[in-house]
Amino acid sequence: MSDANSRSIVSNQAGIHEKLDEIVNKHLNAEFKKPIAEHTQQAFDEVNEQVQAFNGPLIIDSCCGVGESSANLAKRHPDALIIGIDKSSHRLDKHDVEYKQTDSGQYILVQADLNDFWRLAVAANWQPTHHYLLYPNPWPKSKHIQRRWHGAAIFPFIVKLGGRLEVRSNWDIYVKEFARALELSGHPCEVTLYESNEAITPFERKYWASGQQSHRLVIDL
Ligand SMILES: C[S@@+](CC[C@H](N)C(=O)[O-])C[C@H]1O[C@@H](n2cnc3c(N)ncnc32)[C@H](O)[C@@H]1O
Repeated sequence: MSDANSRSIVSNQAGIHEKLDEIVNKHLNAEFKKPIAEHTQQAFDEVNEQVQAFNGPLIIDSCCGVGESSANLAKRHPDALIIGIDKSSHRLDKHDVEYKQTDSGQYILVQADLNDFWRLAVAANWQPTHHYLLYPNPWPKSKHIQRRWHGAAIFPFIVKLGGRLEVRSNWDIYVKEFARALELSGHPCEVTLYESNEAITPFERKYWASGQQSHRLVIDL
């Protein structure tokens, strides 16, 4: 697909999902007990050693895709260690070939499922200064609400992980729902349009090139 013809989101939802509050409250009051996958535990243990040995700000780039944003964040925060996480080895494998933006700064890309990785990071007491969640899969069909991060059982761990959380999406309802879920967990925040001269991820670039806008929230957790 060329950069200039990304289709905008089509959803059978006209606004915030009617069951959102019920779902989020359920997750905020329940324990998430799903066992941690062995491969994610291993991937976490490896990166955790490097994180614990590092003396400086820690920045998490969740759903980093090809890791272009991780490299860009490393360039912008040269004193920090950036950890980019994505479950797709296919995407991560493209990093060195096509998306390495810089040799400056420090970042590590990890293949892992965030449903497990975030829980391990909380248990290991990671304290990121920033947490970026850029263009997560929108799952626009109403029936897929629980696949969106704010509708998933893992959501309370995103809150527990803390730091300055930034979520961007080309679907305003996704970010509005995320903000409502944060409000239910005691962290009200605003959703605004986000514009910049420079896109920092391939999806961001693709959306802007096809005339779509970015919506975002930023909150200190
Ligand atoms: C729409 S892409 C955005 C990628 C990148 N942030 C960008 O803007 O170019 C969403 C990414 O989320 C990743 N993802 C979805 N579910 C995940 C999970 N459970 N754990 C880790 N990554 C996941 C996908 O593999 C995909 O790379």
